[in-house]
Amino acid sequence: MNVLMINGSPRAKGNTTRALAEMESVFAAEGIEVESVRVGSAAVRGCVACGKCAEAGKCVFDDVVNELAVKFEAADGLVVASPVYYGSANATVVAVLDRLFYSSHFDKTMKVGAAVSVARRGGLTATWDELNKYFGISGMPIASGQYWNGAHGRLPGEAEQDGEGMQQMRTLARNMAFLMKAIALAKDQYGLPERETGIFTNFVR
Ligand SMILES: Cc1cc2nc3c(=O)[nH]c(=O)nc-3n(C[C@H](O)[C@H](O)[C@H](O)COP(=O)(O)O)c2cc1C
Repeated sequence: MNVLMINGSPRAKGNTTRALAEMESVFAAEGIEVESVRVGSAAVRGCVACGKCAEAGKCVFDDVVNELAVKFEAADGLVVASPVYYGSANATVVAVLDRLFYSSHFDKTMKVGAAVSVARRGGLTATWDELNKYFGISGMPIASGQYWNGAHGRLPGEAEQDGEGMQQMRTLARNMAFLMKAIALAKDQYGLPERETGIFTNFVR
């Protein structure tokens, strides 16, 4: 059983990294493998809507997004964490997620998703909502915790002093581990839910 973590922070020892470390300690205790990829300093461009991924099954820009797609396909769960920039997820992680979810065509159904946001003061829940959107459109159950998973801190590592935030991370990881294990059992017994051929309308035709 394994989890992929996408860390949107450009700061290697920043608060997002600290929040994810708290989750990682729980996953280690639960025997769940973790691979964490920090994308915040990568030169990643946004989706250009070329549509080439529809045939290729991967993005035309062959960068970290295509590497993440391979790891995501093999994972049972995905944690996406972002520092809050101007009340939303930072631009790099949004570029990564838009292209990752749009260009990859493997079945994401029942892979468990969890979102984490980190801020000095404001915009945590807006960012958390934004990140959860990717899971909600992909058949991915969303793990929840004891609050809207977030931590406060400004200077690198300061989030460690947010006792409640750190507890939220541990609770979230425990709940996510439980959900992944429960889904693995259910998949064995019942298989994945039936999927209809998609109906795709845009309200004008
Ligand atoms: C461009 C920029 C915009 C920011 N906007 C916000 C904001 O809207 N709300 C907030 O509370 N903090 C904001 N911050 C502060 C960061 O969210 C905060 O320092 C956080 O700990 C950074 O996480 P990191 O250490 O993982 O990079 C901003 C920081 C930067 C660099």
